[in-house]
Amino acid sequence: MKSFDKTEDFKLDLPRRPRRLRRTASLRSMTQETYVRVEDLIAPLIVKEAGEKEPVGSMPGLFRLNIEDLVAECRELAVLGVPAVAIFPNMDPSLKDALGSEAGNPDTLTLRAVRAIKAAVPELSVITDVALDPYTTHGHDGVLNEDGSYVVNDETVRRLCEMAVLQAEAGVDIVAPSDMMDGRVGAIREALDERGFIDTAIMAYSAKFASAYYGPYREAVGSAKAAGTTLLGKETYQMNPANRREAIMDALMDEDEGADFVMVKPAGAYLDIIRELRDAATSPVAAYQVSGEYAQIHAAAQLGWLDYEKTRDESLLAIKRAGADVILTYFAKEVAKKLRG
Ligand code: PBG
Repeated sequence: MKSFDKTEDFKLDLPRRPRRLRRTASLRSMTQETYVRVEDLIAPLIVKEAGEKEPVGSMPGLFRLNIEDLVAECRELAVLGVPAVAIFPNMDPSLKDALGSEAGNPDTLTLRAVRAIKAAVPELSVITDVALDPYTTHGHDGVLNEDGSYVVNDETVRRLCEMAVLQAEAGVDIVAPSDMMDGRVGAIREALDERGFIDTAIMAYSAKFASAYYGPYREAVGSAKAAGTTLLGKETYQMNPANRREAIMDALMDEDEGADFVMVKPAGAYLDIIRELRDAATSPVAAYQVSGEYAQIHAAAQLGWLDYEKTRDESLLAIKRAGADVILTYFAKEVAKKLRG
């Protein structure tokens, strides 16, 4: 019988002591199960028409870049070994209308940016956003019905097909529909194939939740309006944060329609969805660590409440451990620099 009041006698008889392998740095490194690699990282970048690079207030370290600066940034990322960038446009408000007509312009900002990147850094994979929100005055990801009370699904999908084909023509490697309309992956696949773009891949924002964590991004691209519309919110197409089964269903539907990647967004608060989708799907799973996740870490670090680097690295490791194959993250460049030593 062990007695806790007699120090010398108190010995636990344990068949296994997990702390044995935590004792030294070499033992810990030998038994590490998960790693974040530079090859896992995708850098989201924001392009604007002209002028100096502009900081985004709530996202320290992120800038809106003109095409020339964007290309320079892409070159640096490619040198670091980051495999891909995801381009988002910050549109001049004068180009926006209720239909998002500018999205159909064959020379719109995003397409010029893609052509410039592919010409300068062809080895870097370029991903473009397929959604109308940067182009609509109301900030919704699609076109509205007559009284503005609903985002019309099928007409929006038709417009997305147009966008995806223009992006493929400009030379993107991957189109990424982020709109959450029903049936868009299949329709886009068909539109691309019909025109011979059989090798343009689709990264589907499959389980995209109606999340408060998108706030800082909406400031960055100037699509904040829809978030504040009380009559029509994005929860009429983005998913309910309470739903797990529905997320898996929608992602598997996207796979059936021809998605090459399925995505979970946001990432950090949805690690259970990432894991479940990793187990249920056969295509690579992407996770998007969104603007609010990035802002949160920066804000707490600025207050001195969290260790910036450790929290950043842990946030990415957790996403990887949950099952993500690739991570879209605003930390991509600095983490790539650190990993490259
Ligand atoms: C919408 C879109 C969103 C983000 C990128 N594209 C979400 C939204 O505004 O509803 C969010 C990205 C981020 O927060 O980092 N097509």
